[in-house]
Amino acid sequence: IPLRIFNDKEEGSVYIANQIAATIKAKNELGQKTVLGLATGSSPLRIYRELIRIHQEEGLSFKNVVTFNLDEYYQVEPENKESYHYFMYEHFFNHIDINPENVHIPNGMLSPSEIDEFCQEYDRKIAALGNIDIQLLGIGRSGHIGFNEPGATDTTTTRLVKLNKITIDDAAEAFDGEEHVPLRAITMGVKPILNAKKIFMAVWGESKAEILAKAIEGPVGSDVPASYLQKHPDVLCIADAPAASKLS
Ligand code: F6R
Repeated sequence: IPLRIFNDKEEGSVYIANQIAATIKAKNELGQKTVLGLATGSSPLRIYRELIRIHQEEGLSFKNVVTFNLDEYYQVEPENKESYHYFMYEHFFNHIDINPENVHIPNGMLSPSEIDEFCQEYDRKIAALGNIDIQLLGIGRSGHIGFNEPGATDTTTTRLVKLNKITIDDAAEAFDGEEHVPLRAITMGVKPILNAKKIFMAVWGESKAEILAKAIEGPVGSDVPASYLQKHPDVLCIADAPAASKLS
């Protein structure tokens, strides 16, 4: 996985935001849509803040942007502050001129009988738009991308999954205790992620150093789903120095 190391996440985030903004701008000028795959969590926060600034101060329009989020907790209501739906509006969509009809986030409140159809439709919509132009990813300490936890192969499509123990531990604080963390989520599959034309993976902090080394330098396989990115033709991992500290 090609890697670019920045001094800190501030610089790395601004770099990624500028890349995304340049693509949207170029496509806007051609009258084309830009399809973005988006992540939640702490890793993309500064990137969203910079994109908001570019919108507000430089007039970048998101009217032609279509988004697909990676994942949502299962059986968490969109109004719940811990939902990824809430996160995306709070930290990004409420501050730009995106058309809400162009926003796609997995629905965490589906009944069991609705899930398969919803997930297939999610992948169909992505494919019908010609796949994702730019996919933004973080990496979990379990090695997940989206919520594709260890065991997920590169042929997985969007689906309901169980969260890994490490992932539940890492979410415990946000949910006020491990016992309140949802056990399941709906995640975009590895396959639609790898179908993206360009991928940026943002990795900050020492806590990610060990898993990042495995993803970049270890064998490709389902033990570390992020390792599948080694096979992608246009991926760039952006890390800060602490996250890159365990690379050989
Ligand atoms: C979030 C997602 C996850 C996170 C990963 C890292 O939508 O899909 O894969 O990117 O868990 O989370 P943070 O950035 O909070 O360390």
